[in-house]
Amino acid sequence: MSRVPVITVDAAALRNNLAVVRRFASRARVIAAVKANAYGHGLIHAARALADADAFGVARVEEALSLRAAGIKHPIVVLEGAFDAAQLDAAAGHDLQLVVHCFEQIAMLEQHAKSHRFAVWLKLDTGMNRLGFRLEELASAHSRLAGCAAVGTLRLLTHLASAEDVGGAETKMQLERFRESSALLGLECSIANSAGIIGWPEAHAEWVRPGLMLYGASPFAERSAADLGLLPAMTFATRVIAVRNVAAGEAIGYNGIWRAQRRSRIAVVAVGYGDGYPRCMRAGAPALINGREASVVGRVSMDMTMLDATDLPNVAVGDEVTLWGRGLPAERVARYADTIAYELFCRIAERVRREEASGLTLRRIPS
Ligand SMILES: Cc1ncc(COP(=O)(O)O)c(C=O)c1O
Repeated sequence: MSRVPVITVDAAALRNNLAVVRRFASRARVIAAVKANAYGHGLIHAARALADADAFGVARVEEALSLRAAGIKHPIVVLEGAFDAAQLDAAAGHDLQLVVHCFEQIAMLEQHAKSHRFAVWLKLDTGMNRLGFRLEELASAHSRLAGCAAVGTLRLLTHLASAEDVGGAETKMQLERFRESSALLGLECSIANSAGIIGWPEAHAEWVRPGLMLYGASPFAERSAADLGLLPAMTFATRVIAVRNVAAGEAIGYNGIWRAQRRSRIAVVAVGYGDGYPRCMRAGAPALINGREASVVGRVSMDMTMLDATDLPNVAVGDEVTLWGRGLPAERVARYADTIAYELFCRIAERVRREEASGLTLRRIPS
């Protein structure tokens, strides 16, 4: 490890996790969600590792164009659709599939005077109340799209708000609404995100849209990724840069928010909020030193964090520290920052992007 911290993205883990998706939803085709720089894992690297997917899902046209520029030929679904006519032209030029979630987007398609026929995913809002046509708007949206010269294949999609609550009333209601509406149209459908794929087999439909589980994290508090056969794709690691002993009663770091209860050995590690490790990480958050668990103490600073290594023998400068990833699920760490693994991954997305471009410290494990 010449520079720290280092982000390792394991392509074999991504492939394993896609195979897990296929085991859960064996009859569905898979739109692999690679939006937000593949949840921070590096868009192109992740897409290449996930080449067995049937399609990729991105939030925005720009992300789809990056995939095309890298030579990715898969169908690409733009989950928020085109925002203006220029994006529509770009989408046509690169054969992107568009989600259409509002009447403004239908009007744009109606005004699109070119010969391209888009594959369109009509988005129905079954209860998330974020994007999509309301049930009472569906007939009108559908008939306009079905009659639009710029529209070729038409499919139907919705998004689940609470699928991680397996058996929960909210998802049951969403599925019921979707069933009632989609039955009339006879279109191919997509409903399930990761939690839907694992927890709601009745939501599999023709296409599933996994994100989180591809990256090896569990969407459920009570079921671990390992139990589901998922492998963490990203490991965020650094090194110990100093070790110091403090007496009982001494405070550690800014504002002295943590005080040693006993004589303690503190490992100072090279990671901080400047690297994407959350400043709000609470004392007690786990990290591994040489594979053994230590815990955060004191305030995370810009480029350093302190770990209580009192109970670990032989901790030394240069030892490897895992902040999350192999051996330490990001889902578990995220709870100490009042967040979810999705956000931890995305916090370091910008760093992954920069390093992917410079090729400096992003280590990749091809397979
Ligand atoms: C529309 C849509 N589909 C699928 C996904 C993937 O969800 P998950 O990462 O929970 O599997 C997302 C992610 O937020 C999404 O917004």
